Amino acid sequence: SKGKFRHFMQKEIYEQPQSLRNTLLGRLNGDDISLETVVGADENTFRNISSIQIVACGTSYHAGLVGRYWLEELTGIATNVEIASEYRYRKAVVRDNSLFITISQSGETADTLASLRLAKEQNYSKTLSICNVNGSSLVRESDFTLFTKAGAEIGVASTKAFTTQLLSLLILALIIGKQNGSISAEKNHEIIEAIRKLPSLAEEFLSCDKLIATLSEQFSGKRHCLFLGRGVMFPIALEGALKLKEISYIHAEGYAAGELKHGPIALIDKEMPVVVVAPDNSLMDKLISNVEEVRARGAQLYIFKSGNTVIKSDGQTNMLSLPDCPEILQPILFTIPLQLLSYHCAVINGTDVDQPRNLAKSVTVE
Ligand code: F6R
Repeated sequence: SKGKFRHFMQKEIYEQPQSLRNTLLGRLNGDDISLETVVGADENTFRNISSIQIVACGTSYHAGLVGRYWLEELTGIATNVEIASEYRYRKAVVRDNSLFITISQSGETADTLASLRLAKEQNYSKTLSICNVNGSSLVRESDFTLFTKAGAEIGVASTKAFTTQLLSLLILALIIGKQNGSISAEKNHEIIEAIRKLPSLAEEFLSCDKLIATLSEQFSGKRHCLFLGRGVMFPIALEGALKLKEISYIHAEGYAAGELKHGPIALIDKEMPVVVVAPDNSLMDKLISNVEEVRARGAQLYIFKSGNTVIKSDGQTNMLSLPDCPEILQPILFTIPLQLLSYHCAVINGTDVDQPRNLAKSVTVE
């Protein structure tokens, strides 16, 4: 039941602190992650992996894109990410000792499952699924599974499944990094400490709901919108755009901020809203210079910032200050205000939030 909430999507956005807590439950042991976290794995499973291929669709694909930044940084293993409907129809070159990872809420997405079946005929040494549904096809057919503990997700737009996928990928990167010796004890400790704070930080981020609801009133009448991010926040910009498209029917595109001048900047005029995902991190200065380029062309800026991010404001700028959080958690936490933005725009636009037109919760046909 929806309880006090108006829509399942809204309820599921609000369940994220608990879903994240559940995804950690029984898995952290001091600075260690218990071996049972990855079903079927032991302390040597990931020791000699030389490359990783991640395959998924939609929102789960965006989780994979974030996962690549973490996996390469924390494990030193070359990682690729691909949309399942593309992966399954090309002749991928698979190196020895490669790990194949699928990410899926349902575990039944046709293209993802077909890619796993193909991978088992290819040269992969291991297959792992990150999945929310026990007993699903992906889980049954993979060597190893890391369960996201989002709980049942009913709204068609994926919310708590996505943030628990991100947390699971971060945990997986720690597990692999520890097994192959890439991660220092200090770094591991720092990230585990951050992860412990994640559920309560998610609660803090939810408190921006009222501000976002107000912002959405100006936003919901738009026909087009751009989302910008850099580095690990680039896939979060993609996810923000997907969510806005699918439930509010506002045309939105996510771009890596540095890519703007290679074409999309031509779209910018006084009518174009631009959402900038701008947490205080190592790419801040680069991002700010992209923001100034967009501002110079008159765009309406919606800047989701935190901490010491200092960006000029003017009559065309809406600034939303979010709580401070460890840099490693920024992609997970900055997703929350973007989910709320698309939710409120959809409500204002009167769309069917939980059952957007033309969409199915589980895409079991090609
Ligand atoms: C978007 C959305 C879809 C799914 C995609 C994959 O909000 O829900 O893009 O993420 O259809 O579904 P799963 O994760 O079940 O494989």
